[in-house]
Amino acid sequence: MNSNSPLEASNPHRYSEAEIAAVYRVIAERRDMRHFLPTPVASETLTKILQAAHHAPSVGLMQPWRFIRITDNNVRKNIHQLVDAERAKTAQAIGEIENTTRMAEFLRLKVEGILECGEILVVALCDDRNRHVFGRRTLPEMDLASVSCAIQNMWLAARAEGLGMGWVSIFDPLKLGQLLGMPSEAKPIAVLCLGHVNTFYKEPMLVETGWKTAKPLAEMVMENSWDNLDADLTKQDAANKGSNKTSNKPDNT
Ligand SMILES: Cc1cc2nc3c(=O)[nH]c(=O)nc-3n(C[C@H](O)[C@H](O)[C@H](O)COP(=O)(O)O)c2cc1C
Repeated sequence: MNSNSPLEASNPHRYSEAEIAAVYRVIAERRDMRHFLPTPVASETLTKILQAAHHAPSVGLMQPWRFIRITDNNVRKNIHQLVDAERAKTAQAIGEIENTTRMAEFLRLKVEGILECGEILVVALCDDRNRHVFGRRTLPEMDLASVSCAIQNMWLAARAEGLGMGWVSIFDPLKLGQLLGMPSEAKPIAVLCLGHVNTFYKEPMLVETGWKTAKPLAEMVMENSWDNLDADLTKQDAANKGSNKTSNKPDNT
């Protein structure tokens, strides 16, 4: 988005140019991290990151997020074992659904940094969720969407603090819930690896390793109906980029 757009410049609610740039910078530079340094995370920083999570929006103000900080190294190792077991099953499923070359490629990927990172936080959906009806009658999964918003806040806050975070979802939620003594209606959805890193990946690690290519925004935005991929918004911005004109439309990358 071009910050000099006259439409935006007169908006009294706008942050300063530097603050706006910082917001877009952290969004662009956030990465899912799997490589960590063993340096501990300062407790004040951890509190700030958890507070950032708690600032997230949630359906009907349900606040369905629960965090379990793992400080016992044996519990950490047990979590790692659960993830490793599921990693093997995932590889097998990739072999069956895709092919064995793809399975071998998957097994070469680093998919977690559980044993190396400074902090482990298990994030779960709370129990007794069905009493929350507002916004969930037709879309009960909005509880998961709300917790995902909280995790994204943590990801961005961590990146701004110079810390990496990785979302690990390769585990059996029943087994992890049992390991951590969760009520049966609660559901773990993330093992978050948080910590100092040597360097942040420039691109998603799955792109850097050649596992996957990322698609551009232009392939995701439609206008008026599902099959109209020719949205004016993205065409307009592409044209502006070419001619360096101003625009109030979102970035196309
Ligand atoms: C809901 C969710 C679950 C994920 N689970 C895993 C995981 O188990 N292991 C892993 O290596 N990455 C996991 N990721 C990270 C994605 O692979 C990563 O976000 C994606 O490749 C894009 O990279 P980026 O986050 O650096 O932009 C997860 C991401 C999300 C949003």
